[in-house]
Amino acid sequence: MPAPAVPSPPPELLTARVQDPYPYFAWLRRHAPAHPHRRAGRPTVWQISRYDDVRTLLTDERLSKEPDRVPGYVPGPAGLNRHLVHADPPDHTRLRALVNAAFVPRRIARLEPFIADTANRLLDRIEQHTHVDVIAAFAAPLTFRMICAILGVPGELDNAATRDTLMATIAPASGVDLARAEAELHALLDLLIAGKRTGGVRDGVDLLGALVQAGDDSGAMSEEELRSTAYLLLLVGHDTTMNLIGNGMLALLRNPDQAARLTGPRATPGLIGTAVEELLRYDSPVRDATFRCAAEPIGLHGQVIGEGDIVSLVIGSANRDETRFPDADRLDVGRTPNDHLAFGYGPHFCIGAALARLEGAVAFPLLLERLGPVAPAKPVEELSWRPARVMRGLAALPVVRT
Ligand code: HEM
Repeated sequence: MPAPAVPSPPPELLTARVQDPYPYFAWLRRHAPAHPHRRAGRPTVWQISRYDDVRTLLTDERLSKEPDRVPGYVPGPAGLNRHLVHADPPDHTRLRALVNAAFVPRRIARLEPFIADTANRLLDRIEQHTHVDVIAAFAAPLTFRMICAILGVPGELDNAATRDTLMATIAPASGVDLARAEAELHALLDLLIAGKRTGGVRDGVDLLGALVQAGDDSGAMSEEELRSTAYLLLLVGHDTTMNLIGNGMLALLRNPDQAARLTGPRATPGLIGTAVEELLRYDSPVRDATFRCAAEPIGLHGQVIGEGDIVSLVIGSANRDETRFPDADRLDVGRTPNDHLAFGYGPHFCIGAALARLEGAVAFPLLLERLGPVAPAKPVEELSWRPARVMRGLAALPVVRT
């Protein structure tokens, strides 16, 4: 029997989806829960938008994470794609175990005073400012400092120039020379890894030093895997959590009744835990799960996902699925239960979840309290979102003290 025809989304939803993807996602869930995007000469990409499907497919072994299966598809900067996000077992199991060692929750919990101290110093600097960009002044430097501390990146490289080098390759602004950006990124990784080889492993959390040592001593990691993993951790440790703080603050600014439950005279103590989960659900920092492709044909909603097709599991849509979350488009910082998929699910579940949750739990109350009453400095529809394959994050969040 031929597959049923798949309807096309209304053009106005497609046009508006960078600013506000949620009406488009609601349309997908309702009319085309397995939506193929067919492109001449390039692999078909399927968008999967319902909660139950996304969650089930996140653990489905028929979906492979190895981009080599799709001829001509290059998921990230050249030479930096051999890391755990792009691996199936047994490589995935080996690489994940090496990285996981540094992210045990007990070790992460010890970082709390350091996160609070760093956040307070950043807020000290803008104490007198009436106009503040929450991303540039706070979310970007805070989250980058944390991942630098965990990886053991030396202080002189913990700056905006390094962040720009890192980000230029995933969301190139118009006019950026991509080849040059990639060359700069490789030079940065050379410097970092060489520093570990000559300087040895430092005390404390020095994950990059430990990975270099593991590779050199026992061959647990190839040189390409080491470089790719260093790149991956720098990137995801920073970009995702920056988006949590940016998207979360925007959601709170747009819902002052919910912000008032977290700070000020009417605040409910102890709500920050559920609030962070709700902010992760409501405007998920990782909008689409990372690369997956069908290793064999998969039937879904009367369609057949062909072998070699790319499958995009749309986390941002699953987390707004009204069949799972009552009143899904409403922000409710006390929402329970809240089994969102913002950190993924199954074998690739986020390794940094405990760190991200802690950064959120420290950052939001400090930001709300120390910024005081603020409003977006421009209409929400005019805010600019960074172009990106899988992330959803603001390029800037300008606010003004009111
Ligand atoms: C709010 C912040 C964060 C969000 C929303 C987030 C989200 C995710 C998601 C959705 C996945 C699964 C991707 C997939 O299955 O395709 C993932 C994996 C991963 N995350 Fe995070 N993440 C966050 C912060 C972090 C941090 C701070 C780190 C620390 C370095 C980190 C490291 C990783 C790693 C290494 C993986 C790959 C795990 C694997 O493939 O086995 N993440 N994350």
